[in-house]
Amino acid sequence: MGPRFGDYQNEIYFEGLFGVLPAYPMDFAELESRARAALPPSVWSYVAGGAGDEHTQRANAAAFERWGLVPRMMVGAAERDLGVELFGLSLPSPLFLAPIGVIGLCAQDGHGDLATARAAARTGVPMVASTLSVDPLEQVAAEFGGTPGFFQLYPPNDRALAESLVHRAEQAGYRGIVVTLDTWVTGWRPRDLATGNFPQLRGHCLANYTSDPVFRARLTGDPDADPRSAVSEWTQVFPNPLTWDDLAWLRSLTSLPLILKGICHPEDVRRARDGGVDGIYCSNHGGRQANGGLPALESLPEVVAAAEGLPVLFDSGVRSGADVVKALALGATAVGVGRPYAYGMALGGADGVVHVLRSLLAEADLIMAVDGYPSLAALRAEGALRRF
Ligand SMILES: Cc1cc2nc3c(=O)[nH]c(=O)nc-3n(C[C@H](O)[C@H](O)[C@H](O)COP(=O)(O)O)c2cc1C
Repeated sequence: MGPRFGDYQNEIYFEGLFGVLPAYPMDFAELESRARAALPPSVWSYVAGGAGDEHTQRANAAAFERWGLVPRMMVGAAERDLGVELFGLSLPSPLFLAPIGVIGLCAQDGHGDLATARAAARTGVPMVASTLSVDPLEQVAAEFGGTPGFFQLYPPNDRALAESLVHRAEQAGYRGIVVTLDTWVTGWRPRDLATGNFPQLRGHCLANYTSDPVFRARLTGDPDADPRSAVSEWTQVFPNPLTWDDLAWLRSLTSLPLILKGICHPEDVRRARDGGVDGIYCSNHGGRQANGGLPALESLPEVVAAAEGLPVLFDSGVRSGADVVKALALGATAVGVGRPYAYGMALGGADGVVHVLRSLLAEADLIMAVDGYPSLAALRAEGALRRF
């Protein structure tokens, strides 16, 4: 049996005996409103905002409300096992930290990538480290402790640069490469447009590029002295509208597990499978990229069916332990936390992220206890989850 995640509530109640209240919010609405107050307005609107009028972003979270777990009694679910096997790794829980490109800027010290990696080390929840980070991927990996980490690649259109980034990730000990497919062009984001704010174009979160020998060789100026040359070169290499013909090349880049992020259509799952990927990542980027789309949760069952046993990672709209349980019951192998941990980061760095992760896991664990589903297999059995 794995860790007793639900015991987090005992810690909190016992501290309450001595008048000590939790340092961080216990529900998402409070977490969000306190993060809003803590973050600089430009970072807040970049993190909290999404595409268009943000209907898809809201629908992602609301979609979970249409599903409910059917409680089972007399199961005696005193021990719950939330552990998962993923790409040959035994993980204590099904959670992972979704890649967040500006997580660096969400920390009060400006080094949120390192703080996220430290939170991963403390919880056993793997981090998927974004290409767009304040600190280079090697320094992030150095903070993982014993927890495995994954590298998220935005494949640049310069193939030599893509190869260099992947090989650096391999050298640094990452355990898989997550290729994000839905962001080769930035979606229409009114909040950022209204403030004329796009962090990378202000020179932020480009450390993986400016520390890369292939990228540096493309520059005429010194990026440390004049960030404009790096920003302008970044705008040249970033846009890469891939086609399925490029999958063989992506596959050839690494023998690490290869996971494609942004897949929501079963036909795309089949193409990915045919191209030899190791995992499918069902996500609509939290509604940040294209408004007017279905909530990602709506696509999950079809994606799982088409994956035919390949692991399916899922994110977009997860806000509570109940959401985690529902995504697992719908067949996700592992569930990604996005904005909630960025808000935890804003409030308390690694401590804030650890609190968010422990709270999600405690709630998920206690729901499985109360509702009589002691294992992930039990959750996935016929009749556990119903639509209403
Ligand atoms: C501020 C921010 C930055 C993000 N940056 C990246 C990124 O660099 N790479 C990536 O694949 N996804 C990125 N994402 C998408 C997340 O990985 C994830 O799909 C999304 O946050 C899930 O939606 P949710 O936060 O509403 O649950 C970002 C999301 C946010 C909120």
